[in-house]
Amino acid sequence: MSAVLKTPDTQPELSTEEIQRLDSAHFLHPFTDFKALAAKGSRVMKRAEGVYVWDSEGLKIFDAMSGLWCVNVGYGRKELADAASAQMMELPYYNAFFQTTNVPAVKLAHKLSQLATPIGDRRFDHVFFSSSGSESNDSNLRMVRRYWDLQGQRQRKTVISRKNAYHGSTVAGASLGGMIGMHEQGDLPIPGIVHIDQPYYFENAHSGESEEAFGVRAAGWLEAKILELGADKVAAFIAEPVQGAGGVIIPPTTYWPEIQRIVDKYGILLISDEVICAFGRLGHWFGYQKFGYKPDLITFAKAVTSGYVPLGGVMVGNRVAEVLIEKGGEFNHGYTYSGHPVACAVALANLEVMEKENLVLKVRDSLAPYLAQHFGALVDHPLVGIAETCGLVAGLVLVQDKATKKPFDPDLSVGMICRKHCFANGLIMRAVGDRMIISPPLVCSLAQLDELMGLIRQCLDLTWAELKQLGHV
Ligand SMILES: Cc1ncc(COP(=O)(O)O)c(C=O)c1O
Repeated sequence: MSAVLKTPDTQPELSTEEIQRLDSAHFLHPFTDFKALAAKGSRVMKRAEGVYVWDSEGLKIFDAMSGLWCVNVGYGRKELADAASAQMMELPYYNAFFQTTNVPAVKLAHKLSQLATPIGDRRFDHVFFSSSGSESNDSNLRMVRRYWDLQGQRQRKTVISRKNAYHGSTVAGASLGGMIGMHEQGDLPIPGIVHIDQPYYFENAHSGESEEAFGVRAAGWLEAKILELGADKVAAFIAEPVQGAGGVIIPPTTYWPEIQRIVDKYGILLISDEVICAFGRLGHWFGYQKFGYKPDLITFAKAVTSGYVPLGGVMVGNRVAEVLIEKGGEFNHGYTYSGHPVACAVALANLEVMEKENLVLKVRDSLAPYLAQHFGALVDHPLVGIAETCGLVAGLVLVQDKATKKPFDPDLSVGMICRKHCFANGLIMRAVGDRMIISPPLVCSLAQLDELMGLIRQCLDLTWAELKQLGHV
């Protein structure tokens, strides 16, 4: 028997089947095979609290992905709802185009500039607001090209990114990203964006090569590309501190220092896309602070509001900001919702919760080491080739042969088999090919991490049993 959804008094109650029918009739979901979903029916998420979500059939699910890498303070935080409600009653909206501003946007810009601490000669005193990570990367492209124009170097247009990177789904975001499937469906990337290989040791290292040596070699692909294009043509390099949507690809420790040496040598702007990595995910407010490199622009979104309302933006470093401000005149770029008062009020409440509950240090000093130990131990499972973590993100690779790390035939979609068992057993763990990844809320307790590890093991066992039955292991 299906659960009945309670809707506000003015609306009739809808059964799960009715919601699913209306869903497939009217709602085109992102990154979805519409026809396949219509045949199967969506899972209707109904409510959430802490680290758990409940679907319309009453199944309690451990959300080890924090929604989509964003619900860092967990679900059901009244502080954030109250902030939104109060701001909606006070000033629900006003634009920032016409020489006008609003109090939450100003306070948030100030707060973010304090959290993005200076590093070397970089300061982050300025913020450009948007409503998403994708829009923020569009803003980055606009700002980078404007910067070089104002510097009298109009030929510096090319941005170098990495294969398998994710920088969003707008035309600029998808072009900056390195996802082949996205490029194929829209004649992307647009001109002036090129990609180098990712620093993925497990797949790209030579046999016998150390992680340290591989990190330096992988960074060298940037230098090779700069020399191929001509250094005077290259505007910027964009990268995530840890590649998230690409499967939690954690660079070797030698990678970022070598990248810094290269961008410094050729005077290229460095964009750190921290849509996933900022706001405590790696045990620091921002990812650059963990790895110690010096970005010129920092993309943020998602966890700035813990996903409760849409907000994104770019921390603009002094090198770029000074040129745009001093030499730029009017910057012909912006969004209706740049500095949206409700979104900014929720972000302020969210950051206050994070500070009050010491969530960033909790990740660095407690959750991250615990996860490293216990998630790392999953490598003893017969299906797991490697299991690695960085802060509170983690990824493991499902392999056919542990000894040789032989991968499964991609047509078997082993990651999807594992994901199916996860969902059925009350766990949200994402599959990227045969990499299984997690990014739990920062409010997770150690006991809940134990519970999570138990669920992962159970689902790995079920995947193993199914593959055995099918004769694949
Ligand atoms: C690193 C990175 N950049 C940009 C984006 C795009 O953000 P949005 O979906 O808010 O446009 C994402 C989304 O996952 C991301 O992970």
